[in-house]
Amino acid sequence: MVKVTICGAAGGIGQPLSLLVKLNPQVTELSLFDVVNVPGVGADLSHINSGAVTKSFLPSSREDKTALADSLKGSDMVIIPAGVPRKPGMTRDDLFNINAGIVQSLAEGIAENAPKALILIISNPVNSTVPIVAEVLKKKGVYDPARLFGVTTLDIVRANTFISQLYPEETKPTDFEVRVVGGHSGETIVPLYSLGAKSHFEKLSDEQKKTLINRVQFGGDEVVQAKNGAGSATLSMAYAGYRLAESLLKASAGTPVTECTFLNLDPSIKGAAEAKKLVGGLEYFSFPVKLSKDGIAEVEYQILEQVSDAEKQLLAVAEEQLAKNIEKGVSFVNK
Ligand code: NAD
Ligand code: LMR
Repeated sequence: MVKVTICGAAGGIGQPLSLLVKLNPQVTELSLFDVVNVPGVGADLSHINSGAVTKSFLPSSREDKTALADSLKGSDMVIIPAGVPRKPGMTRDDLFNINAGIVQSLAEGIAENAPKALILIISNPVNSTVPIVAEVLKKKGVYDPARLFGVTTLDIVRANTFISQLYPEETKPTDFEVRVVGGHSGETIVPLYSLGAKSHFEKLSDEQKKTLINRVQFGGDEVVQAKNGAGSATLSMAYAGYRLAESLLKASAGTPVTECTFLNLDPSIKGAAEAKKLVGGLEYFSFPVKLSKDGIAEVEYQILEQVSDAEKQLLAVAEEQLAKNIEKGVSFVNK
């Protein structure tokens, strides 16, 4: 029996993500929460003859906390794509003022109704919203760092696609598995091509390497600009978010899987203390992690001991920016 709840299920990401989760044979209950339009999305999905029973939850007023509580109770996994997306000219940090409060209130609901759930945070700015959720759960006394995931999978998906596009005759995007570490915004995104795609990456000129890395770091902007005010990545994000959710479901059924995620480098997680030393003492960073039924089983910190000198420089820039993003999230809850 696996119950998955999606908060923000009626949105641009929420709808296709809900569809993908509805199709997963491991999921027995799909719970959809949103503050608008969710009964229609739920009714639509409920006609699909896959195993998951679909239920939707819409609050009757701003004060109504029952709908959220009912949607969350008994959840094994909660995925959060709730909040506003970017428009051209905005950074992810510009979303903080609105999304921080949304994520905080959803985290309070999780703490009270599904404290053991695996929590996947998609809402931007991920570098700050993940610390917000952690601080809320700490205050409520139910925090387990191994169960909290900042979803950075879209950066991995892009890193694989973009290098393959440079070798269209000889490669497919599925040939690559590039690890992307750091955070999820601009220069905090550090694709480790020297490890995941060494031979193809080394054949590129210095200028091509720079352009490729920049494209991964600012890939979100391409979609924001193309959508021209109508939002940011939704379909590729739903695919990426589902990939992490599916990997966790596979891991819970006993298949070992490694994925990158933005996590709290808490010493209770195997390898996290070593990881933290490698990133200048930062509390949060995206690393490849081994997954298990209880969430993050181990941080594969060794990857940072193998990076190139050029990647070390990118990491230094990422660390500096991340420190500020993390502090902003932590102090929002503790202000
Ligand atoms: P959207 O506006 O299409 O959908 C957001 C949904 O959230 C809406 O249906 C809205 O009603 C709902 N919502 C708002 N407040 C809520 C609340 N308190 N509780 C429940 N639901 C609530 O936006 P989108 O394109 O789906 O993007 C959602 C978020 O995901 C944005 O913050 C965006 O920046 C982020 N995002 C992250 C990544 C990533 O890689 N992590 C990628 C793409 C987008
Ligand atoms: C992305 O990387 O596509 C998302 O974080 C959305 C955005 O604002 O770019």
